[in-house]
Amino acid sequence: MDKITIVGAGRVGESTAHNLAKAELCRHISLIDIKEGMPQGTALDIQESAPIFGFDTKLSGHNELGAMSGSDLIIITAGVPRKPGMSRSDVLDVNVPVITAIIDEAVRSAPQAMILVVTNPVDVLTYVAWKRSGWQRHRVFGLSGVLDSTRMASFVAIETGFSVKDISAMVLGGHGDTMVPLPRYTCVNGIPISHFLEEKTLARIVERTRQGGAEILALRKTSSAYDAPAAAVATMVDAIQHGRRRVLPSVAILDGEYGQRGICMGVPAILGSNGMEQVIELALNPDESAQFVRSAEHVRADLARLKLD
Ligand code: 2OP
Repeated sequence: MDKITIVGAGRVGESTAHNLAKAELCRHISLIDIKEGMPQGTALDIQESAPIFGFDTKLSGHNELGAMSGSDLIIITAGVPRKPGMSRSDVLDVNVPVITAIIDEAVRSAPQAMILVVTNPVDVLTYVAWKRSGWQRHRVFGLSGVLDSTRMASFVAIETGFSVKDISAMVLGGHGDTMVPLPRYTCVNGIPISHFLEEKTLARIVERTRQGGAEILALRKTSSAYDAPAAAVATMVDAIQHGRRRVLPSVAILDGEYGQRGICMGVPAILGSNGMEQVIELALNPDESAQFVRSAEHVRADLARLKLD
């Protein structure tokens, strides 16, 4: 990719820009935010770290959405974050017009781009972005599972004392309190996690994963998580930029998979140079299926509020 635009130069946007630049995942990063001077200052600050980190990616900051023109990928982090005590759905109404304006500009000035939505509630807003753009579903997807899974893997590492290098975790469903962490698909170098941890500990890890974002927000009070989210975005961008065809849990528009249609949910997907290339359907047991359906109902309730059809 030649040009990546990040809309929203808050902490997630800034940290994402720095990660992408350090890894040289494109030649030019355009950072857009409505706050005057903010994206320009952030872009310059990151640019000044280039000689130390040795990256040639160029950054620029802008206040107009038109600066996304010709982008190959648009990452949306703009919008109002939740405050302690709020759910991700509580910021839905404020964030819909923000996403809509960004998508309208993308359709106008970056018609070949892919879109990666990070703003919450991400499942609903990814659906809004897809609907509004009219683009094929492989070009519009969202962040959640890579973030939720890295949290779950971290908690497994804490509980077992094993290296994170050997741990892979899987989290499906909506990115909210109803997400579906899957201990059955969580392994230490291929060995199911149940071999090492008892039920009680697994249940604790599942609950801590569900509350992962809220835990950070409750500690920081004035800021949601941004380091882990930005690292997760960079993982997805790396998979696309290098055409790796990685299997990463992502927010995808479902078209019959998992018995769902007309909804966006976190599912394992193949990410490669064409974006979200394929949804992978896991065999879920009755309990996991019930949790997935419950999570879908939660996302559907938010979607129904928006009356998109
Ligand atoms: C999180 O889980 C902000 O939703 C984001 O931290």
